[in-house]
Amino acid sequence: MILLGVNIDHAATVRQARYRQHSATAGGAVEPDPVALALVAERAGADGITVHLREDRRHIQERDVWRLRECMATRLNLEMACTPAMTEFALRLKPDSVCLVPESREEVTTEGGLDVVGQRAKVQEVVEAMRGAGITTSLFIDPDASQIVAAAELRSPWIELHTGSYANAYPADPAGRVREWRRLCAGADRAHGLGLVVNAGHGINYVNVTEVRGLPHLHECNIGHSIISRALYLGLAEAVAEMRRRLNDGLRP
Ligand code: PXP
Repeated sequence: MILLGVNIDHAATVRQARYRQHSATAGGAVEPDPVALALVAERAGADGITVHLREDRRHIQERDVWRLRECMATRLNLEMACTPAMTEFALRLKPDSVCLVPESREEVTTEGGLDVVGQRAKVQEVVEAMRGAGITTSLFIDPDASQIVAAAELRSPWIELHTGSYANAYPADPAGRVREWRRLCAGADRAHGLGLVVNAGHGINYVNVTEVRGLPHLHECNIGHSIISRALYLGLAEAVAEMRRRLNDGLRP
């Protein structure tokens, strides 16, 4: 069974496009409410909800995250930058897991994996603080051997392999798709061999998921854009249920 984490940031992005100045997050005219949608996703079979609280607070707001913490029934996964302010926030919030991601103000979405090798001390500090608080850490990294080995050395129990390069190559660049897929498979094998739990995320959609689900040792996929987009056609419950089916149908238990 491959678990599905639904990233609801894109719902908050729609709200912020119109209601950036409002302090309320729910009720009345302020729509959509990402917390209400997270509960719909849970009831439709999501195994967890992922949010990325960015330094510039461009989509999910702190109050959304606190409301989620209060009313969610599944696991809350907080994506965050490796900063003292975010570490302090996570220690107060106590999500079930944190996923450490690189962050720059200019990017539209997370564009590359975390450089664990280059920022070892900074990452280590956060991993240790989370471990001390009983919060599981995941590191969002490219499928490079050096990053995977560094994640294991820092004793981060989970990694999330960045599937963005693979997803970008998927439709138009068949050779690139094969190359990136092989990188992902080799990375997953390597990580599993080092005792890491292997998750995947970024750019996974209803088409490429039929290949992504074949990634060795895959524990969980975190998926946002494609699910929220399909929800515009089908409603969120059906969009989540359909993704879950595509992830797991026909797999042996
Ligand atoms: N995982 C991580 C670490 C992310 O930063 C994101 C969002 O960029 C996702 C998963 C979800 O990506 P997408 O919205 O492309 O499904």
